[in-house]
Amino acid sequence: MELMVCKDYQGLSESTANLVTGLVQDKPDALICIAAGHTPSLTCQLIASMAKEKNIDFSRVRFAGLDEWVGVSPQNSGSCRYFLQTYLFDHLNFTPSHIRTFDAFARDPVKECREMDSFIERSGGLDLIVVGLGMNGHIGFNEPGASFAGYSQLIELDDITRSVGKKYFAGEITLSSGLTLGLQYLKEAKKAVLIANGTGKAPIVKKALQEPVTEQVSASIFQTLQQGLVILDREAASLLDQ
Ligand code: F6R
Repeated sequence: MELMVCKDYQGLSESTANLVTGLVQDKPDALICIAAGHTPSLTCQLIASMAKEKNIDFSRVRFAGLDEWVGVSPQNSGSCRYFLQTYLFDHLNFTPSHIRTFDAFARDPVKECREMDSFIERSGGLDLIVVGLGMNGHIGFNEPGASFAGYSQLIELDDITRSVGKKYFAGEITLSSGLTLGLQYLKEAKKAVLIANGTGKAPIVKKALQEPVTEQVSASIFQTLQQGLVILDREAASLLDQ
């Protein structure tokens, strides 16, 4: 695992956006996955502006959604799909059939997960996955205890995620479960990138990166990833030993 500490959130977002646009320039039919949430929002905006400025073609790129809240409509501004749509898809020339995100209303979640797995397989595997870090160490919706060997799955959200997740929603919401890519995908992706910023994330960054690797802290899997890159701002890195 490689660690990059940027001066600030702007620097973190620029580095991450450069990785994504650089990949698309090198491999125009790459399969990428980028988390939703507050951390990647500037990264996504920068990807859109860089693509426009440098005329980068996304028409052959494949995109796999990392996760979705079960029962939350894509029209709800708190959904992962809404985030990706407004920050990324609306600004890039993606081919709609090249985008696969989880259906929050899937009647058969197991089938939905197998379909996501088969989309990823058919697309040749993930070239790049960019994930954020939950306050409980989760990646996607891989909550504490999720297997490092899991593929797409339905997961019951833990109490921290249920309560922290409310920050994305304008009104009252009850969050109970989520569909998510499993942690095995971090091992199989050609490049796996974890991004985190701000002092609020510093304690969990420390736990994930400098305490023992355990399935109780999903992000600790990054310590085992040779092709893993962790990009932090100085605040998120502030509790790390040199
Ligand atoms: C969202 C997701 C979550 C977030 C994590 C951090 O698609 O997969 O795992 O990445 O909860 O969220 P933010 O970036 O809002 O702090």
